[in-house]
Amino acid sequence: MNNPDPSFNAPKITVIGTGYLGAAQAICMAVMGFDVLGFDVDHRKIDQLRAGEVPFYEPGLPEKLQEALASGRLTFTTSLDAVAEFGDVHFICVGTPQAVNSSAANVSFVESAFTGLAARISRKALLVGKSTVPIGTAERLTGLVSDISPLGAELEVAWNPEFLREGFAVQDTLHPDRLVFGVASDWAEERLRLAFKPLLDDGTPLIVADLATAELVKVAANSFLATKISFINAMAEVCEATSADVSLLAAALSLDDRIGGRFLKPGLGFGGGCLPKDIRAFKHRADELGVGQAVSFLGEVDAINNRRRIRTVDLVRELAGGSLVGVRVAALGAAFKPNSDDVRDAPAMDVARMLYLEGATVSVYDPQANANAHRLYPDLNYVDTLEAAVEQADVVALLTEWEEFRRADPDYLGGMVRHRRVFDGRHALDAMGYKAKGWEYRALGRPHQPSTLAMGGTLRQKEAPSPTSGLPR
Ligand code: UDX
Repeated sequence: MNNPDPSFNAPKITVIGTGYLGAAQAICMAVMGFDVLGFDVDHRKIDQLRAGEVPFYEPGLPEKLQEALASGRLTFTTSLDAVAEFGDVHFICVGTPQAVNSSAANVSFVESAFTGLAARISRKALLVGKSTVPIGTAERLTGLVSDISPLGAELEVAWNPEFLREGFAVQDTLHPDRLVFGVASDWAEERLRLAFKPLLDDGTPLIVADLATAELVKVAANSFLATKISFINAMAEVCEATSADVSLLAAALSLDDRIGGRFLKPGLGFGGGCLPKDIRAFKHRADELGVGQAVSFLGEVDAINNRRRIRTVDLVRELAGGSLVGVRVAALGAAFKPNSDDVRDAPAMDVARMLYLEGATVSVYDPQANANAHRLYPDLNYVDTLEAAVEQADVVALLTEWEEFRRADPDYLGGMVRHRRVFDGRHALDAMGYKAKGWEYRALGRPHQPSTLAMGGTLRQKEAPSPTSGLPR
């Protein structure tokens, strides 16, 4: 897929915003053979990228950055004038965080990127939004851009939603499941086809749509994924009121091809910089459009997700004997998911804070996210190793399923704790292995004494996803 065919007129690419999305986009497009200029207003980030350092943890991306820099095709700037001068196709990858006083998305960064470029670009070019935005934003920006630009309507807007997962940024950018082009003209489609030629030549499926549909694809996809997670977590609540085991339930459901096992992994629920704020912003936008009822279930999806955090605190309290005051809790994990250092809306951090506020002494250890977590929640105690976290712990709480925690030997950990009590917030541990070593084991949606081994064994023979290893992706 390397190096676009020299016979085709490869557009020069710019990427505005070098967060998770933009950095991966800029780096991977250069690796694919395009000339790329990355822009950010943050000088520190740009200095780091120029020096070959990725400003956040993302497996595989530092190697790709080195490769791209060595090719000479990737450069960085903090000058929007330079961006306007350089690019034929400009990808806008800036954030759309939740607004401070409402659940709406704050699109001010997107707006200023579009208007800033529109005021500066003096030759025909395409502005492509990749950020997740409320439906109707692209159309509104089209009007704004043509009002501001010296080129008028010649400066076109397109939307190309991005579906990359943190932890899989390289894979998802170089081998996406699909591409979606939201365009208002054949010219825009043709430009995007050139910008993604290596991926299209590779057989990546493409959907060409209008601007609004392209915007909607992204929020609909995230809503669906969040709903699937909350569905199985709602079933976990039902399991908790009975003697049923949600792990086995999920494994059984996943064997139905129509349902599938992805995003059906029960536990502490979803967090991060996308799913929670995207479903809230979607609901808000639907209300504005007068179709709030159509997606009112997203409020329940959010509520189910938040209840898992509260239930987790209940289970840790139960394990501790009814009160958390003075209890030493080892909080394993801070990131919203493994292979990421992102603590935005992280269930693990929410739980750690709630435990702390109830009087527990919480030692947090995350293989990558301690620094970010400390910045956000300085009150908690952070330690640098798994051993330091579990030392003299009354309860060990697994909150993010890093491989290091999955692999840990229950007997080894047992030698360091004060009490062998473990809460498995991600159904990531070998329950039987822990119990065999004298641990009291608790998990969301699973009975205290699950009779799951034999059934789990039967399912495994049929190649079902293992209830304890987590379901794929
Ligand atoms: C998500 C979307 O997957 C991606 O397409 C979009 O572009 C951005 O948002 P990301 O935020 O990186 O990506 O995380 P993802 O892998 O989707 O996980 C989201 C959350 O759901 C995590 O907190 C994860 O722990 C949780 N999750 C995921 C579950 O609780 N159960 C599951 O079965 C799957």
